[in-house]
Order: sequence, then C-alpha cells, then structure tokens
Amino acid sequence: MHISSKIPTWILITGASSGFGEEFARQYAEQGHALVLVARRLDRLQALAETLRQQHGVQVVVEQVDLSDIAAVVALHERLRERGIAIDILINNAGHGLQGPFVDSKLDAALAMVQLDIASLTAVTHVFAQDMRARKHGKILLVASMLAYQGVESFAVYAAAKAYVLRLGEALHRELKREGITVTALCPGLSDTGFSKAAQQKITPMLKLLMMKPAPVVKAGIRALQAGRMSIVPGFANKFLVAFTWATPRWLHQAAMSQAMNG
Ligand SMILES: NC(=O)c1ccc[n+]([C@@H]2O[C@H](COP(=O)([O-])OP(=O)(O)OC[C@H]3O[C@@H](n4cnc5c(N)ncnc54)[C@H](OP(=O)(O)O)[C@@H]3O)[C@@H](O)[C@H]2O)c1
Repeated sequence: MHISSKIPTWILITGASSGFGEEFARQYAEQGHALVLVARRLDRLQALAETLRQQHGVQVVVEQVDLSDIAAVVALHERLRERGIAIDILINNAGHGLQGPFVDSKLDAALAMVQLDIASLTAVTHVFAQDMRARKHGKILLVASMLAYQGVESFAVYAAAKAYVLRLGEALHRELKREGITVTALCPGLSDTGFSKAAQQKITPMLKLLMMKPAPVVKAGIRALQAGRMSIVPGFANKFLVAFTWATPRWLHQAAMSQAMNG
C-alpha cells in the first residue's frame, strides 16, 4: 500500500488492550502509523495510547467499545467516519476462547463466544470493507487460530468458530482482491497473552513447549498482510502441526491434538 508522508495510514486494531492487539499497536506505532485502538478496558487503552504517542509521536484514537453489541460496531464505524478517519488497515483481532466439555459448559458462555468470535468479527469486517472498496484499497487481517484446522475435543465451539474465521478470510481474500483489498488470516498456536486465563485453559507440558511470545506472532502477521498472503501460521512447530493435520488421517491428528491440548 502507498503510504503518503502527508496523509497517515490509519490502522484499526480490535482487542488492543492486551495480548496480540497490544503488540500490533506497538509494532505499527514503531512504523509511524496512526492508530485506532478498540476494546472494553478504557484504562488500559488510554495508558497504551499515551505511551505510544510519547515514544513514537503517532496519532492514537481510543475507542471503548463492547464489540459483542453489533449496534456498537456500527456506531464506532459512524463516529470514525464523522471524524474523517478512513481505515487503511483493519486488524480484526478481538476474540476469546473457552475450554471444557461442550455439554457441561454454560450455553450463555458458548453463545457469547460465537457472538464475539463470529458475528462481531463479521460485522467489523463488513462495515470497514465497504469503505475500503469505495476507496479501492485496504488490508484486512483476521485473527483465526491453529485450531481452525480441525475439530478439537474440549474446544468444540472455539475451534469451530475459528474455522469460520479462516474460511471467511480465504473466501474474502479471493472476492475482495479485485476491489484492491487484501485479506489475510493469521492462525497462531498457543501464545503468551491473556487468552489462556480468559479461556480457563489448562496449560499442558506439551503446550508449554509450543507457547510463543506475542511479538514474533504479530511480526509474522504484519509481514503476511503486507505481502498479501491468504493465510499464515506463525512458528516452525505450529507449521509442522498443521502439515501433520494435512498429512494424516483425522482420527490420528485429532487424538494427537486432544492430547496436546487437554493432557
Ligand atoms: N493467545 C493464544 O494462544 C491465541 C491462539 C490463537 C488465536 N488467538 C486469538 O487471538 C486473538 C487475541 O487474543 P489474545 O491471545 O491476544 O488474548 P487476550 O490477551 O485475552 O486479548 C483479547 C482482546 O480482546 C478484547 N475483547 C474481548 N472481548 C471483547 C469485547 N466484547 N469487545 C471488545 N474487545 C473485546 C480484550 O479487551 P477487553 O477485555 O479490554 O475488552 C483484549 O484486548 C483472539 O481472537 C484469540 O482467539 C489467541
């Protein structure tokens, strides 16, 4: 994408108050881009915004939004439009997981996850992709997961939700290419963010070995987005595990993944 020295490239990051979102904000601020940071925890967003303004002299807009509410997604889009902020790069990252047997877990919690990980992500992508199409340029990153590549015991709804994100990204990659928009799905494995705590996830010894820091995951995501790739799995071990999924019968890779994730 052409980056003018006069007009800043605006990057909107959902889920910017911790984990990957916070790291995306840090790496893009380092590159000198203007940012819109979105999440619910206002204090964390404001502290991050202040640090980035001081360290890098970039413009940062903070938006406290509960993205589960689709009307709030539409209102966010409208507020930015009124301020004359056109989003060039969308990092659609906010999401959460939940570990546990499907039937024993609370239906409300499962549906809240579906709402955020599927419905809200779709809504955010839809409203900002329309603007990008009108301007004939833009880049969209959808944060899926390595779990998108197979159904995973005790992560049934989360893995299914992330399969949706990956498939949506793959389809839009092709569909929006002719409109001048690139769409990339980032599929991380377990990483050291606030995710495990929010998902009440058990960290097995195998997962400890595989766990990545957010910085290299985000770096790989930004590189893939810039290159206009369809999807990216960061880290050699994670790439190997996805290749293992492609190369082996379902019963075998499901059993291996279940052991890795649940112990
Ligand atoms: N870490 C991993 O192992 C891993 C692996 C694969 C994929 N992922 C995916 O990576 C993405 C980012 O997660 P993370 O690992 O960085 O975890 P995290 O540190 O828990 O970050 C999640 C972010 O989402 C925001 N969020 C949650 N609910 C929200 C809502 N209703 N409205 C607005 N923002 C909301 C949170 O902010 P507030 O709480 O302030 O709203 C937070 O900023 C997720 O989509 C996750 O599924 C993570």
